[in-house]
Amino acid sequence: MKRLLFVWGACCALLLLACSPKQELKPIRSGEIWPDNQGVHVNAHGGCILYHEGTYYWYGENKSDTTSNAMVGIMCYSSKNLTDWTNEGVALPVEMTDTTSDIIQGCIMERPKVIYNERTRKFVMWFHLELKGQGYLAARSAVAESDTPTGPFRYIGSGRINPGKLPFDMTEEQRALLDTLNVEQYEWDTPAWKEAVVKGLFLKRDLEGGQMARDMQLFVDDDGKAYHIFASEENFTLHIAELSDDFLSHTGKYVRVAPSGSNEAPAIFKKADGTYWMITSGCTGWVPNEARMFSAPSIWGPWTQHPNPCVGPKAELTFGGQSTFVLPIPGKQDAFLFMADIWRPEHPSDARYIWLPIQFKADGTPVVEWMDSWTMEYFN
Ligand code: DGJ
Repeated sequence: MKRLLFVWGACCALLLLACSPKQELKPIRSGEIWPDNQGVHVNAHGGCILYHEGTYYWYGENKSDTTSNAMVGIMCYSSKNLTDWTNEGVALPVEMTDTTSDIIQGCIMERPKVIYNERTRKFVMWFHLELKGQGYLAARSAVAESDTPTGPFRYIGSGRINPGKLPFDMTEEQRALLDTLNVEQYEWDTPAWKEAVVKGLFLKRDLEGGQMARDMQLFVDDDGKAYHIFASEENFTLHIAELSDDFLSHTGKYVRVAPSGSNEAPAIFKKADGTYWMITSGCTGWVPNEARMFSAPSIWGPWTQHPNPCVGPKAELTFGGQSTFVLPIPGKQDAFLFMADIWRPEHPSDARYIWLPIQFKADGTPVVEWMDSWTMEYFN
């Protein structure tokens, strides 16, 4: 009798499950207002998404209505499905009173990225920091750490990168060439100057104090090693630098990518075949430009440039946006979400988001095609 009742109960449960309406997946409409759980447009720009224990955490710059300077800090939102976002508050607040702090209100905090360190079990945040009142001159990177994904993160410090170190793959010949370079000797924007930039004019200038670091990305490879990718050398050249085991500093090992290529906004991902792909932008401030794309067989290169991966209306302007991050979809092979920002410098908090799935051509080259509306079903 007991067994019969059990079978009857199981049948009813199955029937209920089959008849219950399937939860509709919400559409993703790039460029529109994306309300959070309080009905307010998500305020997490230039950000990234971290997937941790079944939850997505979206970190980004809190932009105010009138200035792009940091008035609040770095925000965190959480979601189980990438479309319903709960505001978890400020993960790293700006400092309100201590004027000696690097992150005093009014500084510039851009493109925060958060990664999880399996060894230390800490969440590590790096971001581009500009000191208050100094425009974009400081060109520093800053680091903070937290025990929990939503923070609050503990601010650790900031600085230029890899002082005293030259790229590990620079030949003796290339190193010797540095001796011939002197910043004072060139007129900006001349062919001779450009050639000198490729040879390492700014690399040499900043060798002692550390390399400049503006737009940035973090990447954790399959072996647990983490890398910091940033626009260096006056935004002319990207650097890819290895982070220490705790992710809180740099080991001194790095390479230059596309010297004098003027790349910003690096977003990197790795396919199952081991190829690294990187989408970047040109350097035109808040104004959109044409995306670039690179690939490499190793994080250390050599990096080869490919044509713009974007397809569709305004593809030559990255659909009006600028790359920010590529999220690997958990549990799926070679499934990636491309994220970009549509900046609104005259009303920064109204900046919008572009999220599109990355598609692949038959030869494996990534393509980002505009879609007015799509759902996460795409990845199934
Ligand atoms: C372009 C960068 O990608 C942004 O993060 C920001 O630094 C703007 N430049 C500032 O003009």
